Amino acid sequence: MKRVGILTSGGDCQGLNSAIRGIAKGLYEYYGKKVEIYGIIDGYRGLINGEYRLMKPEDFSGILTRGGTILGTSRQPFKLMRVIDESSVDKVAEMKKHYAEMKLDCLAILGGNGTHKTANMLSEEGLNVVTLPKTIDNDIWGTDVTFGFQSAVDIATHVIDCIHTTATSHGRVFIVECMGHKAGWLTLHAGIAGGADVILIPEIPYDINKVIDCIKARTKSGKTFSILAVAEGAISKEIAEMPKKQKKEAIANMMYPSISYKIAHEIEEATGQETRVTVPGHFQRGGSPNAYDRFITTQFGAAAAKLIIKEKYGFMTGMVNGKVVPVPLNEVAGKLKEVPTNCKIIKAAKDIGISFGD
Ligand code: F6P
Repeated sequence: MKRVGILTSGGDCQGLNSAIRGIAKGLYEYYGKKVEIYGIIDGYRGLINGEYRLMKPEDFSGILTRGGTILGTSRQPFKLMRVIDESSVDKVAEMKKHYAEMKLDCLAILGGNGTHKTANMLSEEGLNVVTLPKTIDNDIWGTDVTFGFQSAVDIATHVIDCIHTTATSHGRVFIVECMGHKAGWLTLHAGIAGGADVILIPEIPYDINKVIDCIKARTKSGKTFSILAVAEGAISKEIAEMPKKQKKEAIANMMYPSISYKIAHEIEEATGQETRVTVPGHFQRGGSPNAYDRFITTQFGAAAAKLIIKEKYGFMTGMVNGKVVPVPLNEVAGKLKEVPTNCKIIKAAKDIGISFGD
């Protein structure tokens, strides 16, 4: 009997269930009744607390299009994994204990950056692990694309589309703030797809005067409205140049709910033009995966099942140049895939007049 555990960890996104389905179907197809799949509840928390259940094949039916995760998820920061908490729980030892209790041959882990650090640690601790790259942020190293990203781009683009009509009617400046944590992929793609006039991403610290100049130039040319796509992690040049500690303090002490509100205030002051902020937030992570995410998660899931069948452990299924390939976990863990500031996407955007505030 082959025994495989599956867990989803960190922030959810579209495509988790279709990826889970891909793994399960790939395993049942090969092993038939000779495989048991354990669903670990709420990510690493379930593995720490011994919360899991034996899944049935029918649990994986009808979930291709369903958003969220049927297993539940939670955030368990990597930096605390080796810290013994006040209830004296040794989390790593507990995870190893429950892995052994389930008699697992392998654990399939679906998650983002933090999740991959813990997955790599578990692999180094001797557990058999394969991982799948999940996040709307698209910031996992070793894969050209993560699942959830394109669905989130669709949603953020739709928001910008809707904002366009109201911005035009009122002749206002609008900021749409996109998620993405420390990476600008989602803002960049949605900003271009939605026709934003200004795109601000963490990788390119902005100069507020350049942003204001761009809006003034639009007004001068007869354009009555402007749209900015701003990443939640966007940062001004001024703050980006500060020493690490000071930078952290400046961000923490910001007097606005988020960076977009600060930028909106500065624009309104300088231009006199009414400026509004829209934050779609977790909306970007919700709902069904789009066709592309169903397509790639099915491939990632099938590839993960293949790795398990071949007992090729310690790998993430990555997408490289359109092909799903195994990428060593220790190469993925701890690295961030940021937007390269000299990439062709940014060059093309600048070629058509989009400002990045630099
Ligand atoms: O990593 C995915 C993500 O949605 C980021 O874009 C965002 O910064 C963060 O999660 C939000 O986290 P939470 O769901 O814990 O509020």
